[in-house]
Amino acid sequence: MKAVDIIIKKRDRKVLSREEIDFFVQGFTRGEIPDYQVAAWAMAVMLNGMTEQETTDLTLAMAYSGEVLDLTGVVPIAVDKHSTGGVGDKTTLVVEPVVAACGLPVGKMSGRGLGFSGGTLDKIESIRGFRTDLSKEEFIHHLRTYGLVLTGQTGDLAPADGKLYALRDVTGTVPSIPLIASSIMSKKIAAGAQAIVLDVKVGAGAFMETLEDARQLAELMVAIARLSGRKAVAVLSDMNQPLGYAVGNALELREAIDTLHGNGPEDFYEHCMEIASHMLVIGGKVQDLREGRDLAEEALREGRAWQQFRTLVQAQGGDVRMVDQPELLPKADFIEKVYASQQGYLSAINAREVGETSVDLGAGRTKKGDPIDHAVGVVIHHKVGDFVREGDLLFTIHANDRSKLAQAKQRLLAAHSWSTTSVQPLPLFYGVIE
Ligand code: URA
Repeated sequence: MKAVDIIIKKRDRKVLSREEIDFFVQGFTRGEIPDYQVAAWAMAVMLNGMTEQETTDLTLAMAYSGEVLDLTGVVPIAVDKHSTGGVGDKTTLVVEPVVAACGLPVGKMSGRGLGFSGGTLDKIESIRGFRTDLSKEEFIHHLRTYGLVLTGQTGDLAPADGKLYALRDVTGTVPSIPLIASSIMSKKIAAGAQAIVLDVKVGAGAFMETLEDARQLAELMVAIARLSGRKAVAVLSDMNQPLGYAVGNALELREAIDTLHGNGPEDFYEHCMEIASHMLVIGGKVQDLREGRDLAEEALREGRAWQQFRTLVQAQGGDVRMVDQPELLPKADFIEKVYASQQGYLSAINAREVGETSVDLGAGRTKKGDPIDHAVGVVIHHKVGDFVREGDLLFTIHANDRSKLAQAKQRLLAAHSWSTTSVQPLPLFYGVIE
C-alpha cells in the first residue's frame, strides 16, 4: 500500500477501506507518512467527505493509535458527556456531581479553553491545589473510590488525533464534519467511554453556527457510536447567547456552585437537568427522561450533588474552603458595572463577542499553553427576550488590567441588540438525535 494511492482515491471521491485508513493513520502516527501527504489527504477529506463507515474506521484507528482505557470492572458502564464548546458552558461542573450523586459513576477527561470557548479544566483550576493531571492509575482509583473524577487527558490518548489536529489547524481543514466527528469520538473512545451524551452547540458562540451543520455533526457522531458498538445520544443546544450569566473561569465556577445549591440561572439549571437526565437514561439508571429528571432534581435538592462536588474537590487536592466560601475564589481588582442607557427588549446577546471579550480580559488563551487569569471575565444580567429599562444593570466587567475596561465595555455594548417590540426568548434546545 502507498500513501499517495490513498490520497488519490479520496481526491477522486472514492470510499476508503478500513485497511487503507488503518495503514494511513498508523503510518502518520509513527512518522512514516510525512506531514505534506497527511495535509493533502485531510484536504481531500475536507472537500469530498467520508461515509459513516469510513469516519468510524478513522475514529477507531485514531482511538487505537495509543492506549485505550478499559473501564470494565471499574464501573458498570462508563458514561461520559462531551460539549462541542461554547461560552459560559460550565455544565460539567454541575452535571457530573449530579449524575454521580444519582449512583452513576462518572469519570471525565476534560479540555482547556481555546479561542472564545472556555474549558472545564481552566474553570476548576480556579480552586487552589485542584489537580487535573491525574495518572491513569489515579483516574481509575478515584472513579472506583468516589464515583467521580475530573481530570485532563492522561498519557498517550489518541496521539494520531493530536498530530492530525495540529496539521488541520494550519491547513484550513478544521471545519470538516467527518474530521471533527472522528477527532471528538476517538478521544471519547480512548478514554473508555461506552455511553456518551453529546451536547452539540449551535449558534453565534459555537463551532457549528447553523442548525444544519450541527445536526450533521450530531448525526455522524451518533452513527460512529452505533457502528463502533458504543451508545450515544446528541442534544442540539443553543449557543447564540451565553449559557447562564457568568463567562470567565472563577465567575463560572461560582455560578456552578450556586446552581449546586439550587440558586443557579434558570436556563443553565434547565440545561444541566436535561443533560443529566440523558446521562441517567443512557447509563441505564432510569427508564426515561422524566424519571431521570426526578432523580437529578432530588440529588440537587437534597444536597447530595453538592456533597459529591465537595468530595471531588477534596479528593483531587483542591482547597475546599474556596468552594465552601466562594468569596475566597480569585477576584479581579476592577469590577465595573454597566447600566442600560436605553430601554427595550433584548433581541441578541452575541455569545462569541462576549466570549472574545472575556478572552481579551485574560480569561482565555489565543494559543495553546498561554497563561490565563482565573479571576477575570464578564457577567451579563439579562437574556434574550428580557425587557430592560434605562438604568437597569446590563453587564459587569471583571478585569485585572484597568486599561482593558473601556474596550471591553464598548464591545459588550455592541454585543447587545435591542428591539422596541417584544422578542421571544431563545429556545434552549433544537432537538435530540439518537
Ligand atoms: N474538538 C475536537 O476535539 N476536535 C475537532 O476537530 C474539533 C473540536
